[in-house]
Amino acid sequence: MIDCAVWWATPLATSGEFLALLNPAERERLHAYRREADQRRFLTGRVLARTLAGQRLGVDPAAVELDATCADCGRQHGPPRVPGAPLALSISHSGDRIAVALTGGTAVGIDVETVNRRADDSLISYALSDAERAAIAGLPDDERAEAFFTYWARKEAVMKATGRGLRISLRGLTLSAAGEPPRLLAAADGELSPEATSMADLTPGEEYRATVAVLSGAGLTVTEQWWPPRS
Ligand SMILES: CC(C)(COP(=O)(O)OP(=O)(O)OC[C@H]1O[C@@H](n2cnc3c(N)ncnc32)[C@H](O)[C@@H]1OP(=O)(O)O)[C@@H](O)C(=O)NCCC(=O)NCCS
Repeated sequence: MIDCAVWWATPLATSGEFLALLNPAERERLHAYRREADQRRFLTGRVLARTLAGQRLGVDPAAVELDATCADCGRQHGPPRVPGAPLALSISHSGDRIAVALTGGTAVGIDVETVNRRADDSLISYALSDAERAAIAGLPDDERAEAFFTYWARKEAVMKATGRGLRISLRGLTLSAAGEPPRLLAAADGELSPEATSMADLTPGEEYRATVAVLSGAGLTVTEQWWPPRS
């Protein structure tokens, strides 16, 4: 079994105490966001990731190096990792939810999505495989949107676990349907297989869907906690 710790947070304020934890590339990315809500989600993901990695490694959050080099262009917007540390992590943010998933080194991906949005036809044909499209055809609009965003969170979790981002075709993955436990059923990509993928749905609260995936067939034990702890 792979142990995975998932931590949830709501957006932090852009205060000096938290901004001081960002490295120069992160500060540049934060300032490139025009909307304050996007800045706060980004800031929170990085502060939470450093805090949790620091706890695991027994060092101060400010001392945790987060490298997010993009394999395509070299910029700091790729999958985050802590060089040399015995851990793997993944960050996701949507609406008022920020999530960080941590394992002892097994590749991990997490995704959270708000479900109070429309799932239009172009999004559906961009993201879903033929089998998935058939499974949601004919559902009333609200149920179809909910089923779509469940698929979407499951797919993005798997895609993010590979670290290859949009180079994985979302349509090339077939996931189990909403209402069934999350499982990868088929993958066109050679790096992914149902036998070597374990997944769990998470509990981010109403209006959200979230899933975590690890690239291991050993099964997954997940603990979900809030940061800072809720009394
Ligand atoms: C991977 C990706 C599809 C996820 O986006 P999303 O579902 O909209 O957003 P989420 O909040 O769930 O995930 C974003 C987080 O995924 C992580 N991430 C980025 N690239 C990743 C990758 N290749 N694999 C795994 N995780 C990745 C980052 O931590 C990012 O958080 P950050 O904003 O704090 O850096 C998105 O980050 C992306 O589009 N990356 C491509 C970057 C790009 O523009 N490439 C163009 C060519 S250089």
